[in-house]
Amino acid sequence: MITQTNPDLDRLSVGELAATLPDATAVFRKFKVNFCCRGDIRLADAARQRGLKASELEEALRALEGSDAPPSLSMGTNELIDHILSRFHEVHRRELTELVALARKVEAVHANHPQAPHGLADLLQQMRGELEVYMKKEELILFPAMRRGAGASLDAPIAQMRHDHNDHGEHLRRLEALTNDFTPPGEACRSWQALYTGTAKLSEDLMEHVHLENYVLFPRFQEIPTP
Ligand SMILES: [Fe+2]
Repeated sequence: MITQTNPDLDRLSVGELAATLPDATAVFRKFKVNFCCRGDIRLADAARQRGLKASELEEALRALEGSDAPPSLSMGTNELIDHILSRFHEVHRRELTELVALARKVEAVHANHPQAPHGLADLLQQMRGELEVYMKKEELILFPAMRRGAGASLDAPIAQMRHDHNDHGEHLRRLEALTNDFTPPGEACRSWQALYTGTAKLSEDLMEHVHLENYVLFPRFQEIPTP
C-alpha cells in the first residue's frame, strides 16, 4: 500500500515502481516519464528531467492507493511469456503493417501540408523490420530457454535484448517528434487522425512490452538485474 511515508517512492527506480505499484504505468505515461528502457533512475531525477516537481509525481502515485496490483506480478513465467506473445508481439505485427500503409497514404495525399509527417512511413517500416528480428530472437531462442528453466546461461541473450530495447526507445522518440507528439492539425482528415491514434497506441504498447520484459520477466533470470 502506498502511503505518505512509503519509502519505496525514494528507494525504488521508476522501472521498479512501474512493475510493483498498482497502475503506476498510467501515471508515468501521463507525465511522459520513461519507465521502460530508461527506467533505472529515481523518481526525483525523472521529475527533474521532465521539468516537473517530484511532489507532483509522488502525489499522483499516492492517489492510486487501493488499486489492484499489476496482474503480471502474479503470473508464472509461462503465463507471462504467453501474455507477452499474444498481447504485444502479435499486436505489433498486425498494427505496424496497417500503420505503414496508412502513413504512406497520408504522406502522399497531404504532401504539401506544412505539418505532413514526412518520413513517418519509412520510420514505421524500419521499426517493423527491426521488431520482427528482435521478436523472432525471443520467440525462437530466449523464451524457449526460459520455459525450460535455464538460468545464468541467459545473461548474454538478455543483455542483447536490453540493448535492442534501447533502440526501440530511440525509435519512439523519433515517432513522437514526427507526429508532434501524436497531435494532428485541427483540419486533419479521418485517415490522418487514425494514423496518429494508431501510432500513439503502438508507442504505449511498445513501452509496456519493453517494461514487462526489462522489469518483470528478465529479473527472474538474473541475480543482479541490470536494466
Ligand atoms: Fe518482446
